[in-house]
Amino acid sequence: MEPVEIGDEELAEIGLILEMRRNFSMSVYKDKCMKRRISIRMRSCRCHDAAAYCNLLRQSEQEIDLLQKALTIHVSQFFRNPSMFEKLRSQVLPSLFVSSAMNGGKLRIWSLGCAGGEEAYSLAILLREHFAHQLQHTAVVIDATDIDLETIQAARAAEYNEDRLKDLPDRIRARYFRPNGSRMWLSQAIRDMVTFHQGNITALEKYLPHDLVLCRNTLIYFTRPDQEKILNGIADILPQGGILVLGKSETLVGEVRHKFSAICPVERIYRRVSDCA
Ligand SMILES: C[S@@+](CC[C@H](N)C(=O)[O-])C[C@H]1O[C@@H](n2cnc3c(N)ncnc32)[C@H](O)[C@@H]1O
Repeated sequence: MEPVEIGDEELAEIGLILEMRRNFSMSVYKDKCMKRRISIRMRSCRCHDAAAYCNLLRQSEQEIDLLQKALTIHVSQFFRNPSMFEKLRSQVLPSLFVSSAMNGGKLRIWSLGCAGGEEAYSLAILLREHFAHQLQHTAVVIDATDIDLETIQAARAAEYNEDRLKDLPDRIRARYFRPNGSRMWLSQAIRDMVTFHQGNITALEKYLPHDLVLCRNTLIYFTRPDQEKILNGIADILPQGGILVLGKSETLVGEVRHKFSAICPVERIYRRVSDCA
């Protein structure tokens, strides 16, 4: 079946159905990206035109769920982009531990758009492996947030297909995972270090400050104004000296870039500077 063309009016109609039935706003995401994903769902349902697909959406709660899931893609991996984790280990975390010791001994880390928890759990493993001493003196909180409840539930269950573990050294895999049929279970000690929440990254106002925020491979799906809104929200919850990490194909856009200085542009690691810097 050929990819189905979706016009702006049809996109708006699908958006309205999602808004009314799931309170899910599609307007913050890029139209092109949404159309491509809807078209994939239409092919799976053998709908030849958008009108037929809208009819299906009106009748099927299950298809609304499947569409919402398809629109917020949940692909991730343990230690995705290993060189970024190495930079965190060697350059970022040591100084964050030093400043947290001077500020009451608490370090807050946040994985935004956390998908199945791979990124947040990778940070927990990194800390256990390389900062065991600091963990004895510092209360480390790792929060992880995603808009999709089912994804959050899967993250809490922490059971993964092999492909999610392909960047893991054998030693780490043997130490922190055990097989369960064809899947791999993450150890309880690592699971206990992360708290998952359902939340929307376009509305970060109500959250507490965090010292290290990772928002990788999520921003790219948003329109430019919404990217700016999200980045401003992150800047507001980062204290001066706090760290932001974006995905490899993402960057700071708009005025908010003046609130950051680059620590490692290649790995998209930035430090929050004071507003009047
Ligand atoms: C491609 S995954 C990125 C996973 C991980 N950060 C990584 O880099 O491997 C993008 C995640 O962002 C989530 N997401 C999309 N829109 C969101 C929103 N408005 N608020 C919170 N999470 C969102 C999706 O549900 C998805 O799990």
